[in-house]
Amino acid sequence: MMKLWGGRFRKDTNKMVEDFTASIYFDCRLAEEDITGSIAHAQMLAKTGIITREESAEIIRGLQEIRREIREGVFEYRVELEDIHMHIEKRLIEKIGATGGKLHTARSRNDQVALDMHMYVKKEIIETVDLIARLQGALIALAEKNLEVIIPGYTHLQRAQPVLISHHLMAYFCMLERDAQRFRENYKRADIMPLGAGALAGTSFPIDREYVAELLGFENIYDNSMDAVSDRDYLLEFLSNASLLMMHLSRFCEDLILWSSSEFQFIEMDDAFCTGSSIMPQKKNPDVAELVRGKTGRVYGSLLALLTIMKSLPLTYNKDMQEDKEGLFDTVDTIQCCLEVMAPMVESIQVNGEKTRKAVEEDYSAATDLADYLVKKGMPFREAHEVIGKLVAYCLEQGKLLKEVSQKELKSFSEFFDEGALLWLNPEKGVDSRNIRGGTSSEQVRRFLQKAKSQQRENTGLLTK
Ligand code: ARG
Repeated sequence: MMKLWGGRFRKDTNKMVEDFTASIYFDCRLAEEDITGSIAHAQMLAKTGIITREESAEIIRGLQEIRREIREGVFEYRVELEDIHMHIEKRLIEKIGATGGKLHTARSRNDQVALDMHMYVKKEIIETVDLIARLQGALIALAEKNLEVIIPGYTHLQRAQPVLISHHLMAYFCMLERDAQRFRENYKRADIMPLGAGALAGTSFPIDREYVAELLGFENIYDNSMDAVSDRDYLLEFLSNASLLMMHLSRFCEDLILWSSSEFQFIEMDDAFCTGSSIMPQKKNPDVAELVRGKTGRVYGSLLALLTIMKSLPLTYNKDMQEDKEGLFDTVDTIQCCLEVMAPMVESIQVNGEKTRKAVEEDYSAATDLADYLVKKGMPFREAHEVIGKLVAYCLEQGKLLKEVSQKELKSFSEFFDEGALLWLNPEKGVDSRNIRGGTSSEQVRRFLQKAKSQQRENTGLLTK
């Protein structure tokens, strides 16, 4: 088949090379954006008198028919046509004849592919933020349902201080909130219109870039044609944001996996979100959470791949840059399906109040509160730390829990201990005493939940805002 760029060639392309260089296998995903962008371009070509109104109308009609063919799944893809841009242009010429060949006036595939990718990423950012909001909603619901449940808080995976499980869950809400903010920032850098850059140097035709930007809903326009076709920073930003998001999701999943293990039993994951073992009949595995944790790897991989692809590329377009797509598409699919499946999974979690209660009673995590008690009585903190350390060592030797020590025993460790001291062995008291902004007291968590709800609403339905 005669290539659209075949004029200067005396030989057909080697079959292997056709296959090797083609991107149609994956950039067919840009079909909608490509057609929408081409329609705007054709409208602009008519408005500026570069082609006639009739020609433009004919081109647009042809493009609309092609869009229908693609949507209905009857459009034919052929490796020799290389990429989605060539496919659509070739089909247009097939359909409407020579006039179709006027569409590519004042345009290059270099600014065309950049336009498609900007449009694609804008759309997917909005979808992603919406999905983040859904998971945030699930976290709010689970936190509210179990607001007063106390669990051990951990450092080094050792019991540290008691916290409300709602506080622990809302920590993830906050991380997701920053993820959403980062994607929303990313949107600004995707919202710059590259068309008009041509191959690299701009065009000698009197095009109207502002008009195209307006038609396609772009806030800004690239100021430098070489920059417009060269950079992929907005994609790298997306991949980086996606990596941070996955890092957060994978930590959350790790907590859920631990909490649902027989060793913890803090939560019960819903049967609908777990799977069984082919050999061990008793097993109920938290596969979804594990897979989210696992998929984090491929998202990091795509970020590293594109950073490496872009490194040291001379200006402007280089074919290397075609490699930006698969990792990006895979990342979009990966983060979106993780967010999508996690929301209902989180919402269906049952917290096991008996087990969490037992865990906080059986540990020594009231130790800080006891030390603070001594400090409030006038003892320097370092000294108090030492006294309570000795008390814990004594309990361990005696095989006692903190809640089992008597007033008399306490007194033997320090004169400062009086009646009120035993109260601090009650985890509720410890939790509720942390009543500063950002602390784990139920008053603070309740207050934050109100703020969280409005943040969550802000991230919902951005498209219509
Ligand atoms: N398929 C190409 C890509 O994805 C489109 C741009 C091709 N431009 C070129 N000069 N070969 O990057």
